[in-house]
Amino acid sequence: MQRVALEQLKEGMVLFEEARDIKGRLLLGEGSEIKSSHISIFKKWGITEVTISGEADDKEDDKTGIDLELFERTAKNVKNIFQHAGLSHPFMKELFRLSVSHRFHANDFEPLHRINIPEADEQNNVIKVNLRNELSKKSIKLPEISTIISDLNEVINDPQSSAEDVGTVVNKSPSLSARLLKIVNSSFYGFRSKIDSISRAVAVIGTREIASLAIGLSAIAVFKGIPKEIADMRLFLKHSLACGLLARIIAAHNNIPQTEQLFVAGLLHDIGRVVIYKDFPDQAAILFRLCAGGNELLFQEEKNRLGCKHTDVGKILLTKWNLPETLVQSVFYHHSPSKAREPAWPSIVHLSDIIVNALGFGSSGERFVPQLDEKALENISFPPAILAMIVKQATHQFTSFVSFLKE
Ligand SMILES: [Fe+2]
Ligand SMILES: [Fe+2]
Repeated sequence: MQRVALEQLKEGMVLFEEARDIKGRLLLGEGSEIKSSHISIFKKWGITEVTISGEADDKEDDKTGIDLELFERTAKNVKNIFQHAGLSHPFMKELFRLSVSHRFHANDFEPLHRINIPEADEQNNVIKVNLRNELSKKSIKLPEISTIISDLNEVINDPQSSAEDVGTVVNKSPSLSARLLKIVNSSFYGFRSKIDSISRAVAVIGTREIASLAIGLSAIAVFKGIPKEIADMRLFLKHSLACGLLARIIAAHNNIPQTEQLFVAGLLHDIGRVVIYKDFPDQAAILFRLCAGGNELLFQEEKNRLGCKHTDVGKILLTKWNLPETLVQSVFYHHSPSKAREPAWPSIVHLSDIIVNALGFGSSGERFVPQLDEKALENISFPPAILAMIVKQATHQFTSFVSFLKE
């Protein structure tokens, strides 16, 4: 099988898997022979590529002419970052294969990056804060909700909201409306004609969907100001965006209509870390040094050394901001989705985060691929066979965010 861009799609090709639009509506069944009318339908519904049967043209797996020794070394190093995730589950096996291939072709041969935080003497290497206590004393400085998010919350919570209401709120911020239009016109949606106003975007994509996207884009403003010595904000943003893109794609494959909300859940999944890095930079630096000296997951060390995890902080922040409960739960349970009462959305964010860590799209500070909650794969439909395709789709969409990241 191979992914084929719509421009390269020809009559007579056979669909390897069903084609669905971005809302998950079935357009053409698996095994159908492509006719010119199908190509017109795909164009009309914003499909940018489909999977067809035939010889795989997976250049990533073609090992002719490559430095095999370097490839093997990359595989060995990738195995190291998979030490907590394990390789026994077929999903992880396939993800490992993709990770080795992706990192090798991206010249990322040594994925276990060293940290650049300066050494400290013994006295300054002891964590002195218990975040759980700080949270219960309410002494953590949680960022205030912006007026735009609270206005958008009102729009989302009001069943009478109109397209005009979203437009009025979003247009108050020229930079937000510009970023929204950039996303709407990117391959994220794949519309053929240009959407040049928020009211048009709302008409095509939906009131709640655009409001959700706008909330996500406004919320990431808190990423600004992460101390440079602790984490690279651009890498953090990349990790978050890639997780959002994957969550949205996996949601579409599961016929979940609220794809934008899943994008936002992925985008904000590690927001608790932002608060920790900004409020307790010295403690975060010690935590990184401790992690670099051992082989523990940052996530586990947060709990062991700081007394609570970034998921706890994220939950408190998003609850304070009055964001929808489904979103709060997806963020809170993204490392343990089977514990959630409604595990489907947290499972999607969980798998997206694992994939993003495995492929090395940005970083939120974690050096290893997090452990898989195997039940996550029972909560949604995600056969390992479609992993390669989903990763390709996400990589393709991710490139259209590069200009967005530059701002
Ligand atoms: Fe996380
Ligand atoms: Fe993450």
